[in-house]
Amino acid sequence: MDDRVVSGEAIKDDVQFELSLRPQTLTQYIGQHKVKENLKIFIEAAKMREESLDHVLLYGPPGLGKTTLAAVIANELGVHIRMTSGPAIERPGDLAAIVSSLEPGDVLFIDEIHRLPRAIEEVLYPAMEDFCLDIVVGKGPQARSVRLDLPPFTLVGATTRAGALSAPLRDRFGVLLRLDYYDEHSLTEIVCRSAELFDVHVDQSAAIELAKRSRGTPRIANRLLKRVRDYAQVIGDGDITLKLAQDALELLQVDPLGLDHIDHKLIENMVERFRGGPVGLDTIAASIGEESMTIEDVYEPYLMQIGFIQRTPRGRIVTALAYEHFGYKYPSES
Ligand code: ADE
Repeated sequence: MDDRVVSGEAIKDDVQFELSLRPQTLTQYIGQHKVKENLKIFIEAAKMREESLDHVLLYGPPGLGKTTLAAVIANELGVHIRMTSGPAIERPGDLAAIVSSLEPGDVLFIDEIHRLPRAIEEVLYPAMEDFCLDIVVGKGPQARSVRLDLPPFTLVGATTRAGALSAPLRDRFGVLLRLDYYDEHSLTEIVCRSAELFDVHVDQSAAIELAKRSRGTPRIANRLLKRVRDYAQVIGDGDITLKLAQDALELLQVDPLGLDHIDHKLIENMVERFRGGPVGLDTIAASIGEESMTIEDVYEPYLMQIGFIQRTPRGRIVTALAYEHFGYKYPSES
């Protein structure tokens, strides 16, 4: 699953690549207009009042630029950013070590904040609310609580599952921003910008083709660009034309809507073995040999976004639109 070229989840290869492409300012950041407009005002107001920005929760599907946006926020505020993730903070001491190194106004970024252990959440509440930490030092009868004052800071949390966040944690964020899938125009702009940074020529029509097959996700657009650039170098003269992009994407098994062999397998199974549903998530998972959670978090969101799958109380169903795309005859109502 992890080596899917159209997965929104980051793979090892993406990290360095994304760092080199990362926009530094809100102006350079393409798309997500409402989010940017709001942030611009909140950042400006915090700077005018010389206060730290309220805590910000960024949520939405993987690969849409939550980490990038956190770095942009810190840059626009003119402060440092410390980056960590929910599962990386195991003990209260881990959190204490990070927050006590912050300078006034700094941004603390916690990725996958829904995976923060409950015990750490409890330590985080006073840190967010009153900028202090209550740490228990010692064990048994010698144990005592020590209060540590912190500089005012901004917590930027990111999650793909806002619903999995506990209510008390969610309530402590002053700014909640939802990142949505990008439209074709924004993705085309991102492809052109990345191509320029990598000094590779891409025809406008080829950039549009890559955008169309990127599932609304910049991380996928940049990954496809990278693979197509390899193809252009070896098979062509280095330039990315529409024909070359189409050939490369066909070889990568990414169809015109950005669906790959796993999406095909999923839909084909639902149609051929379960008459297009309704069929339960666990049944689908077992029939294609995947975990239910992987289907729910990784495959299904985009298939639902483009209207190929619908969730009903009795299970998932394949829509007429998907029947058409995959070349099946839609069963008549009778
Ligand atoms: N690279 C990845 N996401 C981006 C975005 N939203 N704007 C500009 N470049 C990007």
